[in-house]
Amino acid sequence: MSYRITLLPGDGIGPEVTEATLTILEATGISFDWVRHEKLGANAVEEYGTPLPDHVLESIRTTRIALKGPVTTPVGKGFKSVNVQLRQKLDLYANVRPCKNLPGIETPFKNVDLMIFRENTEGLYSGLESYDERHDIADSVARISKAGSKKIINFCFDYARTHDRDKVTVVHKANILKLTSGMFLKLAQERSLDYPELEFNDRIIDNMCMQLVVRPQEYNCIVTTNLFGDILSDLAAGLVGGLGVVAGANIGDEYAVFEAVHGSAPDIAGQNKANPTALLRSAEMMLRHLGEIKAADAVHDSLVEVYKEGKYLTGDQGGSATTTEFAEQVAVRVAEKV
Ligand code: NAI
Ligand code: MG
Repeated sequence: MSYRITLLPGDGIGPEVTEATLTILEATGISFDWVRHEKLGANAVEEYGTPLPDHVLESIRTTRIALKGPVTTPVGKGFKSVNVQLRQKLDLYANVRPCKNLPGIETPFKNVDLMIFRENTEGLYSGLESYDERHDIADSVARISKAGSKKIINFCFDYARTHDRDKVTVVHKANILKLTSGMFLKLAQERSLDYPELEFNDRIIDNMCMQLVVRPQEYNCIVTTNLFGDILSDLAAGLVGGLGVVAGANIGDEYAVFEAVHGSAPDIAGQNKANPTALLRSAEMMLRHLGEIKAADAVHDSLVEVYKEGKYLTGDQGGSATTTEFAEQVAVRVAEKV
């Protein structure tokens, strides 16, 4: 038996961390039949005239699962983010981002164990932007729906209940954004009544940023709207070792796309020095999603060993190993465990 999965290496450091991840997945002994699409984003525009060709979407609709590297989005101009489009077109409404200390990675914060649930298709990412030439006024509309908000809120509460979590915090700015954030807060408060076993509270986004860098241990599951979730998850990544180590998954009712929190890191692309841990841990989430728990545990335990040993760390973790060397070290250990 073989898993047919769409593989999108992306650009920047994407292809490097993808190769590294594949080396390690191969060591699990599980058979994958990768449906690979190299052209996405800027390089797809050159060949197909669009950053997100239909055949890529069709591929994910067929395989239902994808593993994806980062894709660069032009800043302040150019095409709409491929990442955002994928999430919207496939209704991957839940962006799930675990931020937990990995034994062996030294950080100033201990016992951090956060699950961030970011609404992934609406809010300020709705694409409703306009420019009034006459008055030189720009608008970006943060449109959220009751139905969309309920979906991510339910997803978070269900996750907390089924994964033995004890607390849910909804993050908002309902004091200023009374309609959008206000609705999100109210829906979360209502939903919390159905989960009496879970402690529930709410925090305003700016305060939450401060809380997380002072006492992150007080938080557990966090549910929030799109932009706040984007910002909070990079912040939370910083608590547990940075963007090089934090995984993510985009989940909908039909499809799931596993990708790291980080972007294409143009500053280090093409130098074989990116840390593949983040994508690898996304792949570990994918293995769990597939029910391949033994392989997922082997990946996790091997990562812990390599970090604890500390001899083959990439630059972001204070070492000098290449992406490839790091991956080989993890792969050897995975092969011993499965
Ligand atoms: P970034 O996440 O690419 O990089 C931020 C910093 O973290 C850089 O210093 C980078 O070197 C470092 N970093 C990131 N991943 C790393 C890794 N695996 N190993 C070691 N260091 C790592 O964020 P930035 O620079 O804001 O965005 C660059 C591009 O990526 C933009 O075009 C952005 O739109 C895109 N992006 C794409 C995402 C996706 O495909 N899901 C997500 C976030 C950003
Ligand atoms: Mg981000």
